[in-house]
Amino acid sequence: MLEKAAKIIKESSSIVALTGAGVSTAAGIPDFRSPESGLWKDPSKMVLFTAFGFALDPKGFYELGRQLLPSFLKAEPTLAHYFLAKLEHQGKLRCVITQNIDGLHQKAGSKKVIEMHGNLRTGRCTNCPTEYTLEEMADKMNQGHELPPTCQDCQSPIRPNIVLFGEDLPTGAYEEAMENLEDCDLLLVMGSSLVVYPVADMPRVVLRRHARLIIINLQPTQYDSSADVSLHMSLEEASRRLVEALGIKP
Ligand code: OAD
Repeated sequence: MLEKAAKIIKESSSIVALTGAGVSTAAGIPDFRSPESGLWKDPSKMVLFTAFGFALDPKGFYELGRQLLPSFLKAEPTLAHYFLAKLEHQGKLRCVITQNIDGLHQKAGSKKVIEMHGNLRTGRCTNCPTEYTLEEMADKMNQGHELPPTCQDCQSPIRPNIVLFGEDLPTGAYEEAMENLEDCDLLLVMGSSLVVYPVADMPRVVLRRHARLIIINLQPTQYDSSADVSLHMSLEEASRRLVEALGIKP
């Protein structure tokens, strides 16, 4: 099956990659729905990542954020991130659509990255127009500081520019992703459970156009039986073998 995936990638010239949290677990950032290690195995944590939950308990949101922040700050791209950056560099991959907020695709060298759920690089006040960098937010989250971090100008809680459940996607992200999906000849899904919409609908868009679909994910997804290739294996192993099979130089 991996050989078939390599053959399809070789034959494709306009690839779109769709990535989720599974692409960054090897970098030390937990995903959401892996049975043993996913963040949402504790449902109270999931509530904090809703617009309503954040408004109700910003302190709880940041207590979890304070635990997770070090893994985000020290994370380095994985082979899967580098693999996609290389495909773009070769002119075969047109963009990465990602649900991740960690910025690791850009760190690996990917230039065209559509961040469907925002990012951690910047934040904003929940009340006034003041904006913050990740470094400023991280400083305000250090041990000894009271949580939630508050705005220097109006003392309201500040928040990262990520999408919480129940909020709109970043302006233009959906339209830009759809434009690319309408033109691609292969959608390569990596490390996503494909359960959160509207991203979870994207493979359907590609299948409707009879473009090809490859899914690499440890757990099964709703699209496995429709995909040209569905590989239930770690992305580290899959990326290593694909890099080898495609003769991609480091
Ligand atoms: P999930 O946690 O739902 O799915 C990650 C998938 O990656 C799982 O199915 C794992 O089996 C797989 N996986 C984990 N490590 C892997 C590895 N090393 N190799 C291969 N597969 C691996 O994460 P997403 O699909 O990204 O949204 O979740 C989508 C959205 O749900 C997130 O963006 C977030 C979350 O709630 C918001 O917070 C708005």
